[in-house]
Amino acid sequence: MTQMTSSDVPSMGRRQFMNLLTFGSATGVALGALYPVVNYFIPARAGGGTGGTTAKDELGNSVTASGWLSSHPTGDRSLVQGLKGDPTYLIVEGGDAIGSYGINAICTHLGCVVPWNSGANKFICPCHGSQYNETGKVVRGPAPLSLALAHVEINEDNVLLSQWTETDFRTGEQPWWG
Ligand code: FES
Repeated sequence: MTQMTSSDVPSMGRRQFMNLLTFGSATGVALGALYPVVNYFIPARAGGGTGGTTAKDELGNSVTASGWLSSHPTGDRSLVQGLKGDPTYLIVEGGDAIGSYGINAICTHLGCVVPWNSGANKFICPCHGSQYNETGKVVRGPAPLSLALAHVEINEDNVLLSQWTETDFRTGEQPWWG
């Protein structure tokens, strides 16, 4: 017969609790990874052909064009959660419009999120110093490639992002991102 000491009880309880936490967070990660995929297809059907993922702010709320433009001036480049949840810059153009392309903020060197530096008019990666111009075109390595693009479309004030599969207008080449 096994004897249980009193100190075993809390440690078992703790282990089970930790298992539960691990399971919970793993499920959360899995759902988080799945969400943009699911989300990508729903508006495509509901919108009658206007495919796209709704851009989300840092709290996960859908971004509206009017709301964004009321708080972001011309020339602004600020992040939303874009395709697959990737941090993506929206561009505010002159005439109070959101630009027709978004710039994926993930550095093509080793994946740091690249901040916009409005003073230098560039994206400058803090990790190893790569630089990208205001359109996200790489102008200094070690990053080998320009930042990825996404289409941005406004539909009934919703800001929708979709895959950019056409020629990269900055390089004249086919997109390297898939
Ligand atoms: Fe950006 Fe290395 S990850 S320069």
